[in-house]
Amino acid sequence: MTANYLYRDVTKVTTNTLQRMHNEGEKIAMLTAYDYSTAKLLDMAKIDVILVGDSAANVMAGYKTTLPITLDDMIYHASSVVRAVDRALVVVDLPFGTYQGNSKEALHSAIRIMKESGADAVKLEGGVEVKESIDRILSAGIPVMGHLGLTPQSINKFGTYSVRATDPREAEKILADAKVLEQCGCFAIVLEKIPALFAKEVSESISIPTIGIGAGPHVSGQVLVFHDMMGITQQFSPRYLRRYHNLSEEIINAIGHYIHDVKNLDFPSEKEQY
Ligand code: KIV
Repeated sequence: MTANYLYRDVTKVTTNTLQRMHNEGEKIAMLTAYDYSTAKLLDMAKIDVILVGDSAANVMAGYKTTLPITLDDMIYHASSVVRAVDRALVVVDLPFGTYQGNSKEALHSAIRIMKESGADAVKLEGGVEVKESIDRILSAGIPVMGHLGLTPQSINKFGTYSVRATDPREAEKILADAKVLEQCGCFAIVLEKIPALFAKEVSESISIPTIGIGAGPHVSGQVLVFHDMMGITQQFSPRYLRRYHNLSEEIINAIGHYIHDVKNLDFPSEKEQY
């Protein structure tokens, strides 16, 4: 596949760019997108990384957890995003059940994402238990982003979405896992919902970038779910979430306005017809 950016005046963000930003102390900004139009806006705004997260299961499909989303679903979302993007690094989540416990299947899943969507990298959840899968994916030349702390694909094991690593043994495992992911060759690690000082300790113990969500400021960058930070989703308000807009209110008002205009024969006007 030929990358669009080769024909435009755009410097594509790569995994090397992220490492350089981290080394130079420039924070990395990452947001989710699952469709062409949103990804276009994020890329125009010069976001560094677009994550085609398996949070699409919640935000786009209305599932209660991320578990039901399939590899085909993720490829559909990822290819829509890739078609919109010239600059940002596009990272795609490997969905639940496509990489755990079978490194050959993990490689097959990652190759399908890269080949069928044109994305730049994959992300997967977990530490030492998925090391073999990560090794195999990396050996095929596919960049891997790790994900530690609250790992939503393991919600049935945790039983709750509460803050992780408050128990010293869990914190010890996350720290050890971060070192394993770095040694494997992951290019960055998402740290989700862990205490800020612990995220600092993890970040200082490795040399690759860490991207936090609910992990405080002592990380190399931040990620939020686009629909949450824009106030499109309503029910979800964890402490870490800053809402930059109240889009749901604006959209509902605009729709109300449209309904009013249609019912009162105010739309279309003379100028809006042929
Ligand atoms: O799926 C997702 O959106 C994520 C982010 C919350 C990091 O994994």
